[in-house]
Amino acid sequence: MAIKFNRVDFKYKGDDKKGYLALSNISLSIQGEGEFITLIGETGSGKTTLVQHMNALLVANSGSVDIYGIKVEKQAVKKKKIRLNPIRKKVGLVFQFPEYQLFEETVLKDITFGPKNFGVPEAEAIETAQRVIRIVGLDESYLDRSPFNLSGGEKKRVSIAGILAMEPDILILDEPTSGLDPMGRNALLKVFYDIHEKLNKTVIIITHDMNTVYEYAKRVLVMRDSYLVYDGDPVDLFTTKNIENWNLDVPDILNLMHRMEQDLGITLTSRPRSAAALTNALEEVLR
Ligand SMILES: Nc1ncnc2c1ncn2[C@@H]1O[C@H](COP(=O)(O)OP(=O)(O)OP(=O)(O)O)[C@@H](O)[C@H]1O
Ligand SMILES: [Mg+2]
Repeated sequence: MAIKFNRVDFKYKGDDKKGYLALSNISLSIQGEGEFITLIGETGSGKTTLVQHMNALLVANSGSVDIYGIKVEKQAVKKKKIRLNPIRKKVGLVFQFPEYQLFEETVLKDITFGPKNFGVPEAEAIETAQRVIRIVGLDESYLDRSPFNLSGGEKKRVSIAGILAMEPDILILDEPTSGLDPMGRNALLKVFYDIHEKLNKTVIIITHDMNTVYEYAKRVLVMRDSYLVYDGDPVDLFTTKNIENWNLDVPDILNLMHRMEQDLGITLTSRPRSAAALTNALEEVLR
């Protein structure tokens, strides 16, 4: 198992002595290849905090996280017994707010920073930058620009390119498509899905968009008030669980399907997860 949480608690130091409990008793396993996971839950439920434990950006107060055989726990990190570089190479995390990730004076320097840090020669790092900037939907002219003078959506794309350039085995994206226009959002989702499908990598996406979850995810994790309350199949989640309790929306396709079944007095024989699949399912019963 590439990442394994063992009964993890995490508390942010707050203004008062008590602090703020953001993760409670989390146990969870993630494979290093072949997974496509979405992580959902209402604002403040602990999603960002959870993924920041997956590359040792945050360290559990109690319990531990095993990352590629390295046991990350508080005492070991304090005594600097753990080398973080190999972990960061394997597990790439794109931040929710790109401002936290971009710091160099040009986009090129920003994207090549990671690969160079991991020993990739300059020329090769530049080639990689030219490749990944196009993957995220920007052209090469952006490489000479300052990351601070870009629009929100462009910054987001550059921060994603910077992590893609490191070619991690596990790619984690914290709300990667928020603030993007619909075309850009769909194009990027396709990029992430291709990375999973064609390169067999594990991709984890935090999102508030239930349509993305329903159509793409193979596994879904739900956070609620610092607890992991669901870990399993997305169709089961939306069709059998009381999702209102977790403040989750019903995906559009599912709403539409229920509406059609009611209004047309039919029962679909499959559980379509996309518009195309819904059309096929409808044709099947109306034939
Ligand atoms: N640096 C911090 N110091 C203190 N408390 C924090 C800090 N960062 C987050 N928290 C608190 O921990 C809880 C979990 O935050 P987290 O950012 O993990 O939520 P989230 O599920 O990612 O929310 P969102 O959907 O808004 O991004 C929140 O209640 C938040 O107020
Ligand atoms: Mg968050």
